[in-house]
Amino acid sequence: MLIAQMSDTHIRPKGVLAMGRVDTAGHLARAVAHVIALRPVPEVVLVTGDLVDAGMAEEYAHLRELLAPLAMPVYLIPGNHDLRDPLRAAFGDHRYLPPGDFIQYVVDDGPVRLVALDTLTPGAPHGELCARRLDWLEERLTESGKPTILFMHHPPFECGLKEFDEARLNVGADRLGAIVQRRPNVERILCGHVHRPIQMRWAGTIASVAPSTAHQATLGLSPDAPLMYSMEPPAVALHQWRPGVGLVTHLSYIGEYDGPYPF
Ligand SMILES: [Fe+2]
Ligand SMILES: [Fe+2]
Repeated sequence: MLIAQMSDTHIRPKGVLAMGRVDTAGHLARAVAHVIALRPVPEVVLVTGDLVDAGMAEEYAHLRELLAPLAMPVYLIPGNHDLRDPLRAAFGDHRYLPPGDFIQYVVDDGPVRLVALDTLTPGAPHGELCARRLDWLEERLTESGKPTILFMHHPPFECGLKEFDEARLNVGADRLGAIVQRRPNVERILCGHVHRPIQMRWAGTIASVAPSTAHQATLGLSPDAPLMYSMEPPAVALHQWRPGVGLVTHLSYIGEYDGPYPF
């Protein structure tokens, strides 16, 4: 099973650049073409939040057009730049998107179970998992001992980039950690939000952040580093499950690079 993870697509209305500078739609179109050209072709695509930039219906309609070339199932979750109702309205045929207060769901038709968590707190940059969302997770994890991937927008750990650490999963991370710690079948917690590739051992599993398909956060590890972005190469994360091996994660960089040449 090959799972592609895209993150932080930040789509704007047609003809509008993100932050007046970044052509996030052009970047997503290239990311989609990149995923389609991979061999083997990923069976599933996860998009881990900040799907659009301002939660606008027009942005979700644009996102929908940009994702349309993907023939495999595409699973969406909201980030802090998203709004649940316009997201659901634009993707009404994405039957897995539940009605109600939160966009949490399970995809269980392959060797790895995918559990989507909704960390959105409307109007705030940080993430939350309240008791209701975590109760739901505990129930879902009790149903099956299959290898499981959790995916959510906000990372639960401090990554060392001050501005992002102040707006990580600020509420519910301790209980999430306690739940995951008891479940060795949780193979990964896949996140976005930070616009960089990052990994950490967390609560006995591997928590990771995938880069953005567009702009990346600059690597500012000093405590006074300002919040900046740059156009470092974008990438998609590829998570490959093989029986007898487990889940191995790669980054696949989007763009034109010299090579390949034989070793
Ligand atoms: Fe983002
Ligand atoms: Fe975010």
